[in-house]
Amino acid sequence: MERRKVIAGNWKMNMLPNEAIDFITELTPLVKDTKNEVILCVPFIDLFYALLNVQDTNIKIGAQNMHFEEKGAYTGEVSGKMLKSIGVEYVIIGHSERRAYFAETDETVNKKIKSAFANDLKPIVCVGETLEQREKGEQVEVITKQTKLAIEGLTPEQVKNTIVAYEPIWAIGTGKTATSDDANTSIQKIREEIAKNYGKEVAECVIIQYGGSVKSENAKELFTKSDIDGGLVGGASLKAEEFAKIVNY
Ligand code: 13P
Repeated sequence: MERRKVIAGNWKMNMLPNEAIDFITELTPLVKDTKNEVILCVPFIDLFYALLNVQDTNIKIGAQNMHFEEKGAYTGEVSGKMLKSIGVEYVIIGHSERRAYFAETDETVNKKIKSAFANDLKPIVCVGETLEQREKGEQVEVITKQTKLAIEGLTPEQVKNTIVAYEPIWAIGTGKTATSDDANTSIQKIREEIAKNYGKEVAECVIIQYGGSVKSENAKELFTKSDIDGGLVGGASLKAEEFAKIVNY
């Protein structure tokens, strides 16, 4: 089956509201004719400005994290219900930086995904192995386990609407990209794991992106592989012209 390509920028902790507005103004004409889906995952502080500025464009807006509870005494957190209330469509869940620095676990990832769906948000769920795990030959085990635990208890329909981003940690922000064949093989393993639990028909619908030092020079090579359905782009999503080249690979 033909899956769409989804290119998402993850700005991480970058871009002030005025910079976000300028970026969107510059990006809009550069990506208006693409048939690929374009998403910008921006810091909480930029969400409202970004949403206002993508009206009447084909650019969609996502957050980079959320809490799994709807409300309550969780100082500093933002809930899925809050994101939805201002019109956010996507949310990154379980990015490796959150797993590494902010105590995100497979369990919280699963709770957040369920809460995202309960609030009509589409999750972009990140999985990926460390260099050490790869060198020990544990790569497939790690990413399939992360995938299985992330989607545990979802309905088949929810799984179909989950975007998975395979981001090998050693490739993030390092300039080292997985080879396209290597990334494609890992993504096939993730798809097989989904099929084991939800059947092939569901697994074939799931968008699985590659992330880790994606740039305009390697986007085409990666995104034209059989199982790579686009990318989650960090550093190269901070310049509109460069990000547009990736979208229009
Ligand atoms: P880079 O593209 O900067 O390597 O970051 C990838 C990433 O973590 C996207 O979520």
